[in-house]
Parts: sequence; structure tokens; C-alpha cells
Amino acid sequence: MAKIKFETGETITDLSAIAQTLAPLHIQLNHWPLGDDPELAQLLAQESLTDDEKETVLVKLDHYFQQLRETEGYQNRDLIVLNPQTPNLETLLTKFDKIHTHADGEVRYIVDGEGVFGFVLPDESQVELTIEPGEYINVPNGTEHWFVLTERRRIKAVRYFAGTDGWVPEYTGRELRFQPAAK
Ligand SMILES: [Fe+2]
Repeated sequence: MAKIKFETGETITDLSAIAQTLAPLHIQLNHWPLGDDPELAQLLAQESLTDDEKETVLVKLDHYFQQLRETEGYQNRDLIVLNPQTPNLETLLTKFDKIHTHADGEVRYIVDGEGVFGFVLPDESQVELTIEPGEYINVPNGTEHWFVLTERRRIKAVRYFAGTDGWVPEYTGRELRFQPAAK
């Protein structure tokens, strides 16, 4: 279940309260059931996946992509798989752990593990949102954010793309005050 943590240490786990906190930023957070396909569950439980296995996972979840394609014009999707065995994992993560924006939205459906998105609220306070399997997030273009993994260092997420190059990180230079990710 998603949770949001404030700089004060206060934590909220109620999805509608979380959605309300993020509403001024126009961030969408939805629960999308993973279903009960045993083959999908087995693939998601594996630490790593071959390219063929990744494609199998994507196809099994393509009804969500189809909706996004029809309603929002998304063109492509892939599956990102990160775990402690991923080569250069820590270097890779340093691209995204500073406050940045993208020209396109950052749209993710978490299917295994956890991810932590940080945001700057309108009052300039900073929060971290931990999202878990079955949760979909859409961070609109231009929204200041950062992204880290939890200590478990494991995530599988479907990424949906409107274009091909719109989500290179653009660093805004704002200082990240929040303490490193959820323990
Ligand atoms: Fe990002």
C-alpha cells in the first residue's frame, strides 16, 4: 500500500488522503489490480527476467496500456527491472535521485518491489511517496521530483511513453532536504 512521508516524520497511508495531498501537483495515483494469473505472479516473483519473459509480462498487462493509448495517446511501453544484481545499479540511480523535471510525464505502473518518488509541495515542503505493486502513478511534465529505491533495492515497473526522448532528467538545482529514502 502506498504511503506518503512528510518532512515532519508524519506518515499517511490512506489512498484518498495521499491523492488529496498530491492533487495540487496534478499527480495521478491509482490502484490497478494485477489480477490472479499464476504465470504472471510467478514471473513477477523472479528477481530477474529474460527479454522474452519481460514481453510476456507486458502482454499480460496490455489491457491497461490499451486504455492509456486510447485515452491519453501513449505510444509505447517497456518493463524496467532493477535489483541488487543489476550492473551499475547505484550509478544508474544517481541520475534520478536529484530534483529534476522531464519534458514528458513520468508514467509508471509498479508490478513488483517498491519505488519512492519525492515531490515539492506548493508550500515548498518536501514529501516522499512510496508506491507498491498494483499502483499506477502519472507525474505530469514539468513537475519537480526525484526517485529512489527502498533499501530492498528491487522494483519492476511498466513505463508508458508518449514520445521517445521527452523524459531525460533536467535538474532544477533545488536542494533536496528530505532524508534519504524510506527505511
Ligand atoms: Fe524522473
